[in-house]
Parts: sequence; C-alpha cells; structure tokens
Amino acid sequence: MCGIVGYIGNNEKKDFILNGLRELEYRGYDSAGIATLSNGELITYKAVGKLINLEQKCKDFTSTGFGVAIGHTRWATHGKPTEANAHPHIAEFSNVIHNGIIENYKELKERLEKKGHYFLSQTDTEVIVHLFEDYLNDGLDCFEAFKRTIGELRGAYAILLITKKEPDKIFYAKNASPLIIGRGEGGIYLASSDAPLMGYAQEVSYLEDGALGYIDLHNFSSLPNIKQLPQNKGYAQKEGFRYFMEKEIYEQSGVLLETMMGRVSEGKISFENLSADFFDGIGEITICACGTSYHAGMVGKYLLERYAKIKTNVVIASEYRYSSPVLREDELFIAISQSGETLDTLEAIKFVKPFGNKTLAICNVDNSSIVRECDEVLLTRAGIEKGVASTKAFATQVMVLWMLSTYIGSIRGNLSQKEVQKNIEDMVASAKRTEISAKMHEKIKRLSKRYLHGHGFFFIGRDVFYPLALESALKLKEISYLHAEGYPSGEMKHGPIALADSELFTVALMPEHLLYEKIKSNVEELSARDATICAVSALEFEGADDMLYIPSCSSYMEEFFSMMCALQLFALEIAIRLGNDVDMPRNLAKSVTVE
Ligand code: F6R
Repeated sequence: MCGIVGYIGNNEKKDFILNGLRELEYRGYDSAGIATLSNGELITYKAVGKLINLEQKCKDFTSTGFGVAIGHTRWATHGKPTEANAHPHIAEFSNVIHNGIIENYKELKERLEKKGHYFLSQTDTEVIVHLFEDYLNDGLDCFEAFKRTIGELRGAYAILLITKKEPDKIFYAKNASPLIIGRGEGGIYLASSDAPLMGYAQEVSYLEDGALGYIDLHNFSSLPNIKQLPQNKGYAQKEGFRYFMEKEIYEQSGVLLETMMGRVSEGKISFENLSADFFDGIGEITICACGTSYHAGMVGKYLLERYAKIKTNVVIASEYRYSSPVLREDELFIAISQSGETLDTLEAIKFVKPFGNKTLAICNVDNSSIVRECDEVLLTRAGIEKGVASTKAFATQVMVLWMLSTYIGSIRGNLSQKEVQKNIEDMVASAKRTEISAKMHEKIKRLSKRYLHGHGFFFIGRDVFYPLALESALKLKEISYLHAEGYPSGEMKHGPIALADSELFTVALMPEHLLYEKIKSNVEELSARDATICAVSALEFEGADDMLYIPSCSSYMEEFFSMMCALQLFALEIAIRLGNDVDMPRNLAKSVTVE
C-alpha cells in the first residue's frame, strides 16, 4: 500500500526512483510522483494511473550533479486518484511523500488554513509539508521544524521530506509503516521495502517505530541495526507467463517443497529455530490475520484441533484489538501475514505483547515488521509474491500450519509415529498435487467462458474446504469483480439457498476423502432448486452441470491442494476473459499498511 523511495547522491536521480517505484508499483497504482532537488531547483512530476504514465511524463527530464530525490506510488486513502492528490505534496519550498494515514489531519488543516496556508489536494499528507514550513516561518531550523511537525501527527506513517532550505538532506519519520535506509556506492537509498534497494544498497538499516531524523551522505553509520542486504533479484520476471499471478500459481509445487525443506525428514518434523519447549504450557491458540492469510488461519484451526488437540480461535486482525478480547495466560498468539507489514495484524500483535503471551509469526518476509515484533517466526518461504491476489503465499501458510499441528501433535504424544509419518507422506504428495497439468489448465480455460455472467457465485465446502471455499470466492471477486461468497455447505439451507436459481453459480468443493456424502446432500438441495452447479471433485457427480475434475488422491489434504490450484486458475481465466489486469486489480494493493 503506497510505495516510497528516496535517493541522495550524484547519479541520475530519476533512475533509482523510477526503478524503485517499478518494484513497488504492485503495492498501489492509483497515481505516482517524483521530486528532485539539485542545483537549487526543486522539480516535481506527477501522473494519474500506472507508473508508465509518470515515466512518459518525465522521459526527457534529467537531473545531473549532486542532489536529493523522492518518489511515491499511491493507493488512495484520502481523496480520489487525481494528479492533485498524487504525492509528492508541495508547499512553498519543500516536498513530502507519505505512506500511512494521518488521523488528525482535518484539525491541522483547519488551523493552517486560518494562518493563510493554501491546500491543493484533499489528502491527509499535504498538512505535513505545510506544518513543516509553518514552523520554519516561525524561525525554527529545519530539523526542529520537522520534529515539531511529526510530534503533532497522530496515525501511521513513513514520511520523506525534502526542502530547498537544506538541499543535501532527506528528513524521515516512521511510525507503524515500514521504512529502510541503505548505503551503496552510488549514495544513500531509501525505500518502504527492501526490493527496490537490491542492486543499489549493500547495507541497510530497518528503522524502528519512532525513528525520526535526517539522512545525508555522511551520517549513515550512525543509524541503528545496520545489516548487509541480500542482492537476489531473480524473482521479478514473468518468465513467459501472462501474469505474475499465473506464474505464482505454477510455482506452488516448488515453493511447497521449499517450505518443507529441512523441516520434514525421516518421519520427523522439526523447525530450525523453534524448540519443543516453546510450546510448553500452551493451552490455547489464537490465530490472527487478514484476508487470504485469515483463510489460511481458518484451515489452521481445523488442523491444530485435529492433530495438535489444542483449542484454537481464529480472529480477523482489524476486529481483534478493539473488541476487548480476553487473553488466557497459556494462550499462544500466532500472527499470519504474507507481507509482514499489514498494519491491522501488526497492531494486534502490539496489543497482545503487554499481556506477556508468547507470539509466533508465520510470515513470508524475513525482517518485516511483523517478524520483528513477534518472539519467534516460521518463514513460509514462498519467495516474493507480486500478484496482488495471493496464491503461493496461501499455499505455504497452510503447509506451515499443517506441519506445525503435526509437530505439536507429535511432541505432545497426540499423534503416533505412524500418524506423523502418514501426514508427512501426504504433505509430499500434496506438493506434487499442485503441479499444474496442461490438460487441467486447458479444461479450466474452456470452462471459464460459461461463468462470465449470472448474478453471483457461491463456493461451498465443509471442514478445511469451507475456508478454501471462502478463499476461492475471494480470489474470484478480487480479480474478476464478480460477486462471490463462500459458505459452509451445510449452512446453505439456513438462508442463502433462497437465492438459488439457474443464474446462481454454485461451485461445490466435493472431496472424496472428507464428508463426501454430507456435502453431496447439500449440493443436491441446490441442484433441486435449479442452481447451476460446477462440482470440483475426483468423483463424478450426476447433479452437476459442469465437472471440474481433480486427480484421484489418497487423502483429503491432497484434494485440498489440488482444488486450491484448480480454483485459482478458474478465477484467473475468468478475469482474463473479462479483460481485467489480473496483477493489478482495481482498488486493491499488495501490502495494506493502513487501518
Ligand atoms: C488477497 C490478499 C489479501 C491479503 C491481506 C493480508 O489475495 O492478498 O487478502 O491476504 O491483505 O495481507 P498479509 O498476508 O500480507 O498480511
């Protein structure tokens, strides 16, 4: 959600800024902007829509010699995606970019307007630059003015500000939004995640909340916690696939094996950094997450209760901390996040920490804010996920939760060695089930043309196939913009079945190895009311209008992973037929760093 970058040095400023924004564009693509300050000149370009529009606009612009620069790609929070609302925001002699939300911007704006400040945008961000210049007008020096400005802000932010008054510095502040400063041969580089820094900065400092200061060419060494930055950028290509999402669906079998590597061997599960005593005395688990990660958490509940025999609650992060939750002393708090930067989840962890409960992150990004906030981490190892609609991250989250529940089940003696061995065999087989066959993909492509209209989709399933139904409905709505809902299949008769008619598509998840007869009856009830049924199963179902066959499997979890792939491709092919940009669907952003 919004990406920010900054540069100080002698190189062409536009190069790093635009390359960096390209890396971050999947996080927000409503508008983009850039500002450079060199030779006393402060120049700003902004454009609505994707980054390419900004690149076009400043294609003839060059900035030589020493200078500073900032760039921003926006996911709109306050004000429509217009050029005026695009960052950087401008006052008389300074520019600012910001990721996050300033909650008290209205009162600050009113105060500044009364003092004669004129605002050009509807954003919350613009108050920052005006407040800063207002303090300068009162006679404060730049750093003091910046400190006072930040001191007045309430909310979440990563802020970069440049000003003609101090043309060799970038002023920065961070609270609950990620910000990293790096140093490389070409100068100083700043960004809201480490991907843009790779290939430019060799060492980096991940700033902590409360960080506030300025950076110039000389003071990098004074930053806390400086680390070497890995330089691996190999993930960023589509490699012949039409979309990153498609590539990431195909990558799932590889990343699932990666997730298991070194953790599953010789009939045993172990985690590199977690010892068995971490789970000593744990009597209950709360899993907290958002969106797709929440759906993985719901699968985790079934698995943890089934194999680890620990009562597990699953909570939506944005609901959790304002709901007066009651925490037991022996409760383990697990936060699941692909990005590791989701503000709702991060704030939920911060809420729990003062109670002293153990915290565990299941996360795809090492060194992310959520990883740093938790006591322990299990990395999901999905590799960078660029498609906004999460696929391989979900697959690896489920795998980690399955391994974790089997592990706890084994150390607590709730699973026999034979049962652990069986789960491990099923895990390996499940990874294999996510290899996409050309035949299946082709069949889904053909099938997709029959599902472009209608007044909605119901995805239905039982047990772990219920969260998979929710996740499949989410995938479809995110990229196709069609209405879709997930339901436990047994719940349809309690109300939703009222919607059933031939224009209602029901995608029924019918695993052979889990409650087949039960779900069959539920689907028959819908079929009797003329709903159009697409059955996803290895077994032929006579009441179906369409069959989406998965291969015959030997366990329900293999069927889970196989159906997951089929339904990801189903959403993808429908969205492509509808002409949508699958990797950058409307209104969404990859990493949601606002409440
Ligand atoms: C959906 C999707 C979102 C995220 C959610 C949480 O495809 O990606 O629902 O799952 O915003 O994000 P993370 O997992 O990064 O905390």
